[in-house]
Amino acid sequence: MYARAAGLEPARLPRHVAVIMDGNGRWALGRGWERFNGHRRGADTVRAITTECAKLGIPRLTLYAFSSENWTRPASEVEFLMDLLADFLRSELPTMLENNIRLESIGRVDELPERVLFELANARSATAANTGTILCLALSYGGRDEIVDACRKLADQAARGALDPTSIDRTTLQSALYAPQAADVDVVIRSAGERRLSNFLPWQAAYAEYVDHPALWPDFTVADFRSCLLEYQGRERRFGAVPTR
Ligand code: FPP
Repeated sequence: MYARAAGLEPARLPRHVAVIMDGNGRWALGRGWERFNGHRRGADTVRAITTECAKLGIPRLTLYAFSSENWTRPASEVEFLMDLLADFLRSELPTMLENNIRLESIGRVDELPERVLFELANARSATAANTGTILCLALSYGGRDEIVDACRKLADQAARGALDPTSIDRTTLQSALYAPQAADVDVVIRSAGERRLSNFLPWQAAYAEYVDHPALWPDFTVADFRSCLLEYQGRERRFGAVPTR
C-alpha cells in the first residue's frame, strides 16, 4: 500500500490536514529575486503536496492560499497572487481530474476578482463528482471572519423565526461555517519554521496537532510532508481526556 511504502501507518493517517504555506517571500529574497518568484515556485509545491495527499488517500487538505489580511500587501503582489491562482485553477484541472480530486473553497470568496471566481466555479463544477481527496483552498479567509459570518447567518435565521436562539449549540454553529460537512482538522502543518496559527481554522483546529517544518514553502518536499505526517502519527491525542494505558 502506498502509505506504508511512504513510511506511514495507513490506519492513523489524518482525515483533515491543514497547511499554512509560509516562506515564499523569504525564498525569493534570499536569492536576490522578487517575491513573486517565490509564489510561483510555491504553486509547484502546492501541486506536489496535493497529489501526495491524493495518493495517500487523505480525505481533506485545506491550504491557506490567501488570508483576509493578505489584502493589505502591495497591490502588485495581490494582483500577482490572483493571476497565479486563476492560472493554477485552469492549468491544474487535468491533474485534479486525473487524481480524482474535488476542489472546494472557503472564505469570503465574493471579494475575489472576477477572473478568479470564474476559474474557481469552473474547477469546482468540473471536479464536483470526484470522490477522492478534497482540495479546499482558503481564499480571502480569516478564522474570526468565518465565525462572524456564521453568527450573522444564524442571527438572520433567528430574526426570521426559523431558529430558536436557545437551541443554538456547537452543531448549529458548525452548520453555519463555510464548509459545514468538513471533519475537524487533525493536523496543522506550517512551513518556514514559524509557530503561529495566524487566524487559520480556529474552530476546526481546536484539537489539532501542530507541526512546524523549517523548509521555506517553495523548498518543502513530499519527503518533508511525510516527515510532518510521521511526527503527527507519533503524537498521543487525548482530546482533554486522561491517557489510556
Ligand atoms: C506565504 O508566503 C504565502 C502566501 C501569502 C500565499 C500562498 C500562495 C502560494 C503558496 C502560491 C499559490 C497558491 C496556490 C493555491 C496556487 P509569504 O509571502 O508570507 O512568505 P514570507 O513570510 O517569507 O514573506
